[in-house]
Amino acid sequence: MLRLNLPATGEDELAEVRTVLASGYLTQGPKVQEFERGVQAIVGSKHAFAMSSATTALHLALVALGIKPGDEVLVSDFTYPASGNVIVQQGAIPVCVDVLPDTYAMDAADLERRITTKSRAIMVVHPFGLSADMEAVNAVAARHKLPVIEDAACALGAKFRGRWCGTMSDAGCFSFHPRKSVTTGEGGMIVTERDDLAQKISVLRSHGGVRGQWYLRFDEAGFNYRLSDILAAVGVAQLKKLDWLINGKRAHAARLAGLLAGIKGISLPVEPAGCLHTYQSFVIVLDAGIDRDAVIARMRERGVETTLGTYAMHSQPFFQRTYGYKPGDLPVSDRLFRQTLTLPLYPQMTEADLQLVAKSLELSLR
Ligand SMILES: Cc1ncc(COP(=O)(O)O)c(C=O)c1O
Repeated sequence: MLRLNLPATGEDELAEVRTVLASGYLTQGPKVQEFERGVQAIVGSKHAFAMSSATTALHLALVALGIKPGDEVLVSDFTYPASGNVIVQQGAIPVCVDVLPDTYAMDAADLERRITTKSRAIMVVHPFGLSADMEAVNAVAARHKLPVIEDAACALGAKFRGRWCGTMSDAGCFSFHPRKSVTTGEGGMIVTERDDLAQKISVLRSHGGVRGQWYLRFDEAGFNYRLSDILAAVGVAQLKKLDWLINGKRAHAARLAGLLAGIKGISLPVEPAGCLHTYQSFVIVLDAGIDRDAVIARMRERGVETTLGTYAMHSQPFFQRTYGYKPGDLPVSDRLFRQTLTLPLYPQMTEADLQLVAKSLELSLR
């Protein structure tokens, strides 16, 4: 079976992990800081905090921004539901915003329509390694004086008009899950330019304890959202491969797009002018009337693993039951949830693998 994704981990990561295990500093040691400095060196952020996942990073960003029960947080609807779940965990109300049909990213016009007097923040997702239109989103945010969190879980290394995803807002959150740009198995990071948020995040990430001369003082009831040095070591080795990973995916994405160009019934991913797409996932849209799940099954029979693009949050049972959404309330997101298909794409793939993906898709659409 040709896998959907294959992490590029091996001897380099093992060597880094060995140094941590031999050092006796398994958490809150120097590797976490080295990993944080590594991400900062790439995206140029003032602060970076390693976290146990993007989900905990997004949650802590909301806490640091002071989001409280009953507040409304506007969030891209077409996303992995972790984006909305953290809003719910904070007692706040996720207000789902529809997306654009070509980039799958937040529709700034729909965002503005859904703002109310209870709106307190915007969480914008960069889908599959492509930046949302941050100029449009930030313009709405500025008009309504709302802070912005970037859910850049899929977008380490992606750019919008020369700026790095994660650094165009109050706080950006990355994921290091195995299907992301680089992996630590599980892991995440928050980057921010704001000193006030950085201060809160550094305290709340680690139980709310402030260090005194001999012991901690607990000014807040915080969390343990830390990343261990063992996992940070994997991240340090992975960051050295980031350019190779992104360039490899971009080259394969161009080749795959070429192989798929003549196939009827599909729309290929776009890369708008000024954007650098990392192709964290290569996601196509099948025309209405094509049964996406049947295509997934047929491709599996031909030895190719595929999956849906991602979820329409408002179409999921929890969001319908709790907030009264109905499927199709956000029509673009709902259609993408039903008709998108993620194809295998990673640098280790060969030309034969890419041809197999294209051929099996073509045959599976018939
Ligand atoms: C857009 C988005 N946000 C958040 C997450 C959650 O990331 P993590 O698994 O690191 O918690 C994911 C993971 O798939 C994601 O795709």
